[in-house]
Amino acid sequence: MEATEIDFGSNPLPTLLQNGLKIPSLRGRLRIVSGTAFEAPTSVQPQLLFGYPLQIGAFCSISGTGSLENVQIGRYVSIASGVVVGTHEHPMDWLTSSRITYHPQLHDWHRFCAPDRVEEILANRCRFAGACPTTRIGNDVWIGNSVFIKSGVTIGDGAVIGARSVVTKDVPPYSIAVGSPAKVRRPRFSERIVERLMRLRWWRYSLYDLAGVSFDCVESAISQVEQRIADQDISPYQGRVWGPGDLKALFTPEAKPVA
Ligand SMILES: CC(C)(COP(=O)(O)OP(=O)(O)OC[C@H]1O[C@@H](n2cnc3c(N)ncnc32)[C@H](O)[C@@H]1OP(=O)(O)O)[C@@H](O)C(=O)NCCC(=O)NCCS
Repeated sequence: MEATEIDFGSNPLPTLLQNGLKIPSLRGRLRIVSGTAFEAPTSVQPQLLFGYPLQIGAFCSISGTGSLENVQIGRYVSIASGVVVGTHEHPMDWLTSSRITYHPQLHDWHRFCAPDRVEEILANRCRFAGACPTTRIGNDVWIGNSVFIKSGVTIGDGAVIGARSVVTKDVPPYSIAVGSPAKVRRPRFSERIVERLMRLRWWRYSLYDLAGVSFDCVESAISQVEQRIADQDISPYQGRVWGPGDLKALFTPEAKPVA
């Protein structure tokens, strides 16, 4: 996978914050694969693994201590601490479930055990395509504490996942799923309201442009946002999207901080 090497230095957070990115994992020297994109403003505290593209939308509030890999996340997503998304699967029907067979550079053991045959070992590694399929998390999703989400699942817009759930299957939009394995308990709203919300896709807008809307009364809020759109009072939010090239430019010594 094509990647850009970026030296973020030891204290990049002030520069990142100035540009709407509260992402402490972006520090030191990293290889960021192409397709990675963060839309400002966003706050992403957990450990980020950069082996696959990560895409995270604006207005996300993602707490620390968990980890994220190979995931696409929409806007206005709230994720509590200890949530794990994108863990690797291991081959269970091969000679061994160990990753050594498809990732021989694991812990650099290939250099320790066979320093004269590094090239041969790398050339002969097996391919394991199912290691980490992409996980998709829609817009306005709320994920409770310490949830595990199996790689490759899709969590629909507006869904809620209860604390400590283990999500192994797709979760439909606007449903509340809990338990291990997670099962849908109930929808968040009536079918009619869900239809209106899915048509409206309010997350295209900045909630700051929607000040005055009755956020605490969903039916009125939908009608008010519909009206503002019809009156052309608001336009969709276009957050700056930071990819590897933009981040590299920001952190090269000659780059000027972006206003
Ligand atoms: C999922 C959640 C939102 C449900 O809220 P709710 O709809 O008000 O649910 P209730 O408390 O009425 O419970 C409904 C049923 O689901 C069960 N349930 C609720 N949360 C559960 C969970 N996390 N795991 C398993 N079962 C759960 C309840 O025991 C109850 O079961 P019953 O009908 O058999 O008695 C809430 O329980 C939760 O997990 N919140 C996450 C909090 C969190 O992690 N915050 C971090 C800050 S971002």
